[in-house]
Amino acid sequence: MDIPWGDEKTANFVSHIGLITTDGPHGPDIMACEWTQQISYRPALFAISIGPNKATCDNILATKEFGVHIAAHDQSVLTSIAGGQTGKKIDKVRALTELGYRFRKAQILSVSMLEGVAFWAECVLIDHRTYGDHEMFIGEAKVAEADREKAPLLYHGGKYWHRGEQIQKPPAEELERIATIIQKAKK
Ligand SMILES: Cc1cc2nc3c(=O)[nH]c(=O)nc-3n(C[C@H](O)[C@H](O)[C@H](O)COP(=O)(O)O)c2cc1C
Repeated sequence: MDIPWGDEKTANFVSHIGLITTDGPHGPDIMACEWTQQISYRPALFAISIGPNKATCDNILATKEFGVHIAAHDQSVLTSIAGGQTGKKIDKVRALTELGYRFRKAQILSVSMLEGVAFWAECVLIDHRTYGDHEMFIGEAKVAEADREKAPLLYHGGKYWHRGEQIQKPPAEELERIATIIQKAKK
């Protein structure tokens, strides 16, 4: 079956927003990538799933490296620009720099890294496969850092959200009741 973009069945999905920086035949580029996920601890691996016609795809295939960032809550405008224009036609890094966003040189890669993010990692491509209508790139993080002061930007129902209230644990008696039931269900 298919679940196309914007399908109602995805209305309850929540994701952070990856911002992928690359360089290559289309020049320095940044794109928004909701489908960005850590998939291994040791080593730290990241999977990004990208439509085949994106400038980011061509850039990664040419240079075998990309920057992964998790957008901060105050980067929704930047995210819309990175996700609403293609690096085939617009120099988004230049436009974003003129708008006041800051990029810096990567420590290991040749790509630019975005500042002010909740998390970043410099990744070297270790695998690439086509899954359905997207290209999956697996990158191994060589260096990474998080800014714990920054809340991540959330994406839900096609809109941006700020992290809400933490859900509290049930009271002690309820936790005890749950523990007893789990023990009784021991195999
Ligand atoms: C919030 C948001 C999330 C997005 N997530 C993805 C994604 O996971 N995969 C993808 O291929 N495109 C995604 N896009 C669309 C790309 O960012 C968009 O096509 C962009 O223009 C590609 O840039 P490029 O051609 O410079 O690589 C997203 C866009 C937005 C606004």
